Amino acid sequence: MPNSTNQFIRPVTCTVNNQGNLEVGGCDLVELAQKYGTPLYVVDEATLRSVCMDYKCAFSSYEKVNMMYASKALCSMATSAVIASEGFGFDVVSAGEIYTVYKAGADMSKVLFNGNNKSVDELLLALELGVGRISVDNFFELSLLNELAKSKNKTVDILLRITPGIECHTHEYIQTGHLDSKFGFDLTQIDEAVEYIQDSNLKLHGLHAHIGSQIFETKVYEDEIDILIRELARLDEKYSLKLDEINIGGGLGVKYTDSDLPPSTYEIADVILKGLNKAIEKYGVDAPTIFLEPGRSIISTAGVTLYTLGSSKQVPNGRKYFAVDGGMADNARPSMYQAQYTAVIANKPEEKASQTVTIAGRFCESGDILIKDISLPEPEEGDVLCVFNTGAYNYSMASNYNRVEKPAMVLVNNSQSDIIVKRESLDDLISHDVIPDRLKTNV
Ligand code: LLP
Repeated sequence: MPNSTNQFIRPVTCTVNNQGNLEVGGCDLVELAQKYGTPLYVVDEATLRSVCMDYKCAFSSYEKVNMMYASKALCSMATSAVIASEGFGFDVVSAGEIYTVYKAGADMSKVLFNGNNKSVDELLLALELGVGRISVDNFFELSLLNELAKSKNKTVDILLRITPGIECHTHEYIQTGHLDSKFGFDLTQIDEAVEYIQDSNLKLHGLHAHIGSQIFETKVYEDEIDILIRELARLDEKYSLKLDEINIGGGLGVKYTDSDLPPSTYEIADVILKGLNKAIEKYGVDAPTIFLEPGRSIISTAGVTLYTLGSSKQVPNGRKYFAVDGGMADNARPSMYQAQYTAVIANKPEEKASQTVTIAGRFCESGDILIKDISLPEPEEGDVLCVFNTGAYNYSMASNYNRVEKPAMVLVNNSQSDIIVKRESLDDLISHDVIPDRLKTNV
């Protein structure tokens, strides 16, 4: 099986240039840090396109595939525009994501709206902007959406989100396919939902499941497909209901460290397509359209984050800490999930590692440690640290903790760098604050 981009720690264009600095997308990372400041999110367009190509090639033998990108991994207008230009649709989970992809020029008929507690306003926006499918998560939403559809005199195209009851060995916080899950209909509740839909303004096209994130196993997808197809066949038999779509979610893992060995996109596609054919034969159904909605594996490898090293501290007989100018507010994953990352010093990428240090964030919390015990060449104040594989769930989960401005993001390609998200300013930080008139005399 060929390798695919999700199996690399570094962006595909990452190399060392004549200055001896690390570069990505033909741009010197030290120069980027100087030009745009740090922390800085950098997204490599070539890597992003290469992952999209991997997915398209891997599934090219099956005609009826709808590739969508799970926007929750990183949602910005420019990255959405790149992904849309690759022919992908989007899995969105909020008005904010709907609006962003819409403004980025996405084909809204290729957008699927997910979520376990969509608000009336969000559903109305989805209807107004013509999202292609709404994945209905629960009974409350079924009746809410039906009321909205009736009031608009529309028929709304839906999938049903189900929990197939599959355990996958990933971090417990990101398991979503098991039975005790806040997401989706239990298998035993599908019939009641289908009966409700029969007499409604909702048109059911198929079933949707998502079994977890950062998955390295492949068999779980085969099991998931077996359950989805089994349910299609059962609903056909019981209600003469011909459903022809299954959405198998996202979840393919990426390589954060040398010890991570995610399967390639090609391997996953092989398991999915073989599993699909097996299930089609086993249950005697027509070949359905399959939807995929990976997030992390599309955007993670394309992203690196640059930081500047600042203060350091040697604990007597203990660790040596080096602090960077960012941390848990721009990358919550180490403190939330004990996630591990790989990093190098961008201004001395080829020097031999000479010591083990711990990279601390700048935020006021002891748990704000970005990378524990990393081997680096003599780190010095002012060095530019490049952390790899930060494209997914870094910017999208960023906060203003400690009232710190969120970093800028640049897109690099062919030696060109463009700001795609501006760095927040101090005025941005207070732009939503309001001092009531009665307090103003005191200020
Ligand atoms: N579809 C659904 C319904 C999902 O809930 C998710 C992720 C995806 C697709 C995309 O999964 P991916 O391909 O990215 O694994 N914040 C956590 C990850 C949470 C994932 C939530 N759902 C992290 O940083 O690891």
